[in-house]
Amino acid sequence: MNEWRLPYTVGKIGTPPLKSQGIKTKLVPFIAQSINWAPGSSGRWIEPFVGTGCVALNVAPPRALLADINPHVIGVLRDIQKDVLTPQSVRSSLFEMGSELARRGEEYYYEVRTRFNETGEPIDFLFLNRASFNGIIRFSRKSGFNTPFGHKPERFSTQFLSKVSNQVAWARERMMGKDWVFAVQDWRDTIASAGPKDFIYLDPPYIGRSADYFSQWSDAEATSLAHATRESPAGYALSMWLENEHRRNDHIEESWGQTVIRTATHFYHVGASESQRKPMIEALALRPGYETSDLGTFITGRSLQKRMDDAIEPLFA
Ligand SMILES: C[S@@+](CC[C@H](N)C(=O)[O-])C[C@H]1O[C@@H](n2cnc3c(N)ncnc32)[C@H](O)[C@@H]1O
Repeated sequence: MNEWRLPYTVGKIGTPPLKSQGIKTKLVPFIAQSINWAPGSSGRWIEPFVGTGCVALNVAPPRALLADINPHVIGVLRDIQKDVLTPQSVRSSLFEMGSELARRGEEYYYEVRTRFNETGEPIDFLFLNRASFNGIIRFSRKSGFNTPFGHKPERFSTQFLSKVSNQVAWARERMMGKDWVFAVQDWRDTIASAGPKDFIYLDPPYIGRSADYFSQWSDAEATSLAHATRESPAGYALSMWLENEHRRNDHIEESWGQTVIRTATHFYHVGASESQRKPMIEALALRPGYETSDLGTFITGRSLQKRMDDAIEPLFA
């Protein structure tokens, strides 16, 4: 059997069951192609800010330490790993909850939200995440999860239930037979455990004020993260936005010292029309020696297969 290693070309990107605003789905092919790392027989893929698990699930390394300070995102991933949340159980629970939502409307959403804030049940979190406004994960210190309802009461159609249970099946299949450890902990503990054979992938919250209690992130915190990571003996890659049409992010140059930068152009929509399609340059800052050769700026947004079929939009520009 061929040894697992990076880089590799991701054909079809998988989507995890949880959604979040900072999810890296579109950047997965860029990340997987920009890192040069072979774990050998013991190296671990380490994510101190694993969130929905999107990157780890797509990259699917043999050994991993996947951590986050938010116990609820880890709760869902762990329960899938332990077969507590299965494609069948998720489908039938969401069917019942979805039927109740269709009958009672948003009142039911808020009832589940109150229950979740008392019990922390992973299935309730998954329901709320998929029924909430834009799948935003937002907690407050006092009242817990507080994202409002954001869809029609008929959200949980047969088709949608299949989609979510397939996402659970996909996540389960990606974890199966792998040595993955999930942990609820601060990034400092995660980075402190990294050894020379490990590779750390970092996707911290944006610097600035965040509405989410679990994603408070300051300049000082970002600077200590850079310091601790550079001190670590492991390889690393940091995902961070670099430039949009209004400004450039100086944090990488200021705090990360000697890194190799690879870039991807990512388009996001601020409205419905094409003229409201805005470019954002995303960077991957890598420890020197862990980069693949520079092929230019990666363009996200179309599947690899489609780009190859059409040969219109190049992978790199
Ligand atoms: C940008 S998101 C990561 C998204 C992830 N890469 C994905 O694709 O879903 C940042 C994550 O950092 C977590 N976080 C914030 N502060 C943290 C801390 N001090 N230690 C560990 N995790 C933290 C948040 O809970 C959030 O899940």
